[in-house]
Order: sequence, then C-alpha cells, then structure tokens
Amino acid sequence: MELTIETSNQLKSKPDANHLGFGSLFTDHMFNMDYSPEKGWHHPRVEPYAPFALDPSTMILHYGQGIFEGLKAYRTADGRIQLFRPRENFKRLNYSARKLCIPELDEAFALTALKELLQIERDWVPDAPGTSLYIRPTIIATDPFLGVRASHTYRFFIILSPVGAYYPEGFNPIKIMVTREHVRAVRGGLGDTKTMGNYAASLLAGEKAHKEGFTQVLWLDGVEQKYVEEVGSMNILFVIDDELVTPMLNGSILPGITRDSVLALAASWGMKTSERKISIDDVFAAHQSGALTEIFGSGTAAVISPVGELRYEDKTILIGQNNAGPVAQRLFDTIMAVQYGRAEDPMGWIEPVD
Ligand SMILES: Cc1ncc(COP(=O)(O)O)c(C=O)c1O
Repeated sequence: MELTIETSNQLKSKPDANHLGFGSLFTDHMFNMDYSPEKGWHHPRVEPYAPFALDPSTMILHYGQGIFEGLKAYRTADGRIQLFRPRENFKRLNYSARKLCIPELDEAFALTALKELLQIERDWVPDAPGTSLYIRPTIIATDPFLGVRASHTYRFFIILSPVGAYYPEGFNPIKIMVTREHVRAVRGGLGDTKTMGNYAASLLAGEKAHKEGFTQVLWLDGVEQKYVEEVGSMNILFVIDDELVTPMLNGSILPGITRDSVLALAASWGMKTSERKISIDDVFAAHQSGALTEIFGSGTAAVISPVGELRYEDKTILIGQNNAGPVAQRLFDTIMAVQYGRAEDPMGWIEPVD
C-alpha cells in the first residue's frame, strides 16, 4: 500500500522539554487510514494534525465501537529514536479489534506507518530525562447510522503527544482504595481489550477514591468481588515470600506489555514468578504474616508505580515507607535503561525508528 505524505506548512513551536505534562499537546502531523467493505483498509496517509468532521450520527459516538493503544517513543543519549515492543501493541490492537467486530489491521504495515510518522515528527521526541513521545493508535466506527450493529466503515488514526517524566522528583508511592461497590469488567466482557467504555466504566469509582484521598482504585473481579484484578489503569504485582505474584490473565484483565516484560525480566534474574488467582484476603493475610514485602503497578505511563498504602473496607496496609522496594526499583531502572538505550537489550524489545 502506498503511503502518501502531506506536510504541514504551519509548524507549532516545540514545548520546553523540562515542563511537559501528559496528554494535552499534540504534534504537527497525524496518520490516517480508512476502511470500507469494498476497499478494505486503504488510503494510508500522514497529514497535518487536524480535527475530524463527524456526522452527529457517527456510530462511535453512540455505541462506543472503538479501540486504542498506548506506547511511547524514546530518545537515546546519542539522539536516536526507539520504540519498546511496538509489535505487541499492534497485536493487542488486533485482539481488541476481533472482540469488537472491527476489521483487523496488517500489523507490519501499521508499524511501518508509525515509523514513517515518527520520522517526520522526530524533533518532537523530547530529550529531557524521563520524557518521551506518547503514541495513541486508535480505531473508530464511522458509519453515520443509529442502530446497534457493527459499523461497515472505520478510521484508523495515530496521534502523538510529548509527555513529561512521570517521576521528576523520585518515586511517588500511590494510595489505593479497594472497591467492592464498583467493578471495571466482567468475565466474558471486554476487560482484556483497550476499548473506550472500560475507561468510562472506571470513572465513578476513581472519583470516589479521589474524594477520599486515594490516587487509584484496586479492582476486584466482577463475579465474586474477591480476586484482585488491576489497579487504576495498570496491572498489579506483589512480592510475597520473595516470589513475584500477579493475577492470572482471565479475560477481564488487560494483558499489559509492561506486565509481560516485568515477569520475563524477574524470571531472567532467577526470581520465582507466579501468575495465579490472588484474593484480597490473601493479600491482607500475607501482610499480616510479614510475607508481603512489595506492591506495585505496571504500565506504559509510569513503568512501575509503587503502592504505599492499600485500604480495604476498614483495614489498611502501609508498605514500603513511601519508597519503592528493591524489586520495583530494579525493574524500573532496568526497563527504563533499555527504553532509553542505556543498557543492553538481551530480550530484543527495542525497535529502532531510524
Ligand atoms: C486497564 C489497563 N491495565 C493495564 C495497563 C498496562 O498495560 P501496558 O503495560 O501495556 O501499558 C493499561 C495501560 O495500557 C490499562 O489501561
């Protein structure tokens, strides 16, 4: 497929790399591609970043048939641009596509298109420590139609946003509230996909947690409300008796790429790892006995997010004295060093852009 490029003649000024926030600034160009039953995925193009004109009846606006991904481009000390396991993101996008009746993309082509866009926007990849260019590939249903069925037409687009260091002043352990009142996803539902509705479903519990002074919600399974699933929009891991434990993927947990990387790294260090069902009662019992030494979240945004406090009903776990534990710290340092090209990449996780 021929990719066409239209460059913008009105370039924005680049932000100060030392004062970047998250998700509110976008680059000069974006990638777009369309799907129709007659032509399949077609007309791939890089063009100036611009708003869409959508008919008010467009299906994504009514039925939420849409999916997305989140990954980052990193600048190395010698100025190269690289991606971390991007093929996994496109694989997961296609998994989400299948579950939402969206036509799959050619994963190799999507990666080529992303690299093309990144080459055009390479000056937008910030160079201050810990900063990166966040990448948001998205597919939306575009039929102008009211009625519940799968759309016949779609738009795939990729936008880019320069983002700041997650921890400019060192780790900031998060305070977590376990909710039983709300669930994020259920068995047989869409919890293991990145679809918009999952994030809409998480808002009310998140707001309640914020009001009570907590950063994020810990989600329990949607059936028995007993087993730990995720924390906010991260996977969750525990160190119990020197073993790295994380909930087993069960269809309602998002299979995080950072989670997978963390498990692979820990195993390569000779650490025991286990993916299994873990109940919230097990977590409190392990804390009570002294076996629980660390809790942390994993995800693209923060890489590793230590949990300093966990509240469940009237019980609270305080852990780590406001610092990352040794396992969390080592995982954070190692993954960041690979992402920014400061360390060897024995797992083959890095994809150079240029
Ligand atoms: C619900 C949810 N869980 C887990 C993750 C972590 O996934 P990853 O490590 O691929 O960023 C994310 C972020 O993408 C998420 O939105």
